[in-house]
Amino acid sequence: MKVGVFDSGVGGLTVARSLQQSGCFSELLYYGDTARVPYGNKDSNTVTRYALEAVEFFNGADVDALVVACNTVSVTALEAMQKFSNKPVYGVLEPGVMALQQLAAEPSSARVLVIATRSTIKSNAYQQRIADLGFQHVTAMATPLFVPMVEEEIYAGPILDEAFKHYFRMLETPDIVLLGCTHFPLLADSISTYYGGAKTIHSGEAMVAWLKQHLDLEARFDKTPIQILATENVEAVKRTALRWGLNL
Ligand code: SIN
Repeated sequence: MKVGVFDSGVGGLTVARSLQQSGCFSELLYYGDTARVPYGNKDSNTVTRYALEAVEFFNGADVDALVVACNTVSVTALEAMQKFSNKPVYGVLEPGVMALQQLAAEPSSARVLVIATRSTIKSNAYQQRIADLGFQHVTAMATPLFVPMVEEEIYAGPILDEAFKHYFRMLETPDIVLLGCTHFPLLADSISTYYGGAKTIHSGEAMVAWLKQHLDLEARFDKTPIQILATENVEAVKRTALRWGLNL
């Protein structure tokens, strides 16, 4: 199965890496809209317009399905994308929610923190889906500063500690942190350490588990070649992909 991966920029490489490492896919085609990143502070009409432009691109591409790595797009424009796409389109919201359900032994008592971009939090999509499953202690917080930090390769250390204090100092310690933005898996260890070992949910790993379950996939490819395209500065995206452990 050949899969397209759409993202607002480089963050979705964390999802592409999980897909590549799973061994379930014959080929990946990554398309990052680096010319217009970030999407996380844009309004929903703009995000939907950009997402539909990506659908137009993937409608003409040789892939069997499209994975939307970007959380902001997944909660804002997935239905519109599914309507205009000529192939199945999968977003990261449902996989993240499924992973939460599997991690939490007792939803009514589990303390859950959802962190994401402003648009994702404002959409209320994660909060609604999680509440529907019976979770009662859910805090959702926009942590937009983490996006440029990851892009600056700040994954730990004093600047990040200050950002943690800025966002988290008033919050109750969670048992599970749902990382609702593609960039945040790179901060997973630091976030877990800050919270004394809280479990974290990574959109890429959640997506692989979800696709395996729903499409009955299994690992059978030793190598999954990935082609990387971007609307601006593709060489920089490739350098980031190498740094983040993808095989190019
Ligand atoms: C962004 O484009 O602002 C971040 C990507 C995401 O929401 O996962």
